[in-house]
Amino acid sequence: MEKAQDIAALLDKDKIPRHVAIIMDGNGRWAERQGKSRIEGHEAGARNVKEITEACQELGVKVLTLYAFSTENWRRSKQEIDSLFHLMGRYMKQYSGQLHKTNVRLLHMGENQGLPEKTIEDIQKGLELTKDNQNMDVCVGFNYGGRREIVRAARQIADAVQAGTLSPEDITEEVFAQHLYLPEHSEVDLLIRTSGEFRISNFMLWQISYSEIVVSPTLWPDFSKDDFYKAIRDYQSRLRRFGGRP
Ligand code: IPE
Ligand code: IPE
Ligand code: MG
Repeated sequence: MEKAQDIAALLDKDKIPRHVAIIMDGNGRWAERQGKSRIEGHEAGARNVKEITEACQELGVKVLTLYAFSTENWRRSKQEIDSLFHLMGRYMKQYSGQLHKTNVRLLHMGENQGLPEKTIEDIQKGLELTKDNQNMDVCVGFNYGGRREIVRAARQIADAVQAGTLSPEDITEEVFAQHLYLPEHSEVDLLIRTSGEFRISNFMLWQISYSEIVVSPTLWPDFSKDDFYKAIRDYQSRLRRFGGRP
């Protein structure tokens, strides 16, 4: 079997994706296979974030966006939702210090509205602590939905038109992108989904318009550096044409 370091050594250092986004899926199935509770699966998933963030830093990926809680995940049981909120708060507290040491900035992509006060506070503290860091951005999609984000942008633009500060003919793709949650990260180079599902599940609908997509069969808690490097290798083998021809 190929070793993680061997694969990493073979990667083209000049073709590292700037922005990688991951749909971290499969925590529940992982837990079920181990005879554990779903929340134990989410805990194992949260632990794995550190490993993949490190792999990004080693390779020079500048932005990592992680889908942690979708606007559709409100359909789950109250018990699971509460434990996910609790886990997010704990994660922010435990890891923001470590991320801070390695000069990583944490960003939140999504809505605070609907989240418990305590979770909002914990997120806010993590963002505040790391706000001046410049080595890499880790964006956490929490209470995030791609359609919600687009509707929010449309509303902000409509408000500006109504206020007379923007005219309809000045609404371009660039202007629209300025109204996304994280305007500076409006293009994703590589989208990874774990657990073998071939769907987008309302993730970054605007930003993935020209992303390369890699679906890994591995469940998120087991998704190792090795799997990550393989996804990067896959990405590097693609010819990104953006609609043009050489
Ligand atoms: C992904 O794991 C994490 C969240 C959606 C919060 P799942 O909980 O969706 O795991 P599966 O898909 O049931 O295995
Ligand atoms: C997508 O996974 C959301 C996150 C990873 C946070 P889901 O497990 O919620 O997506 P579906 O239900 O399979 O589409
Ligand atoms: Mg799932």
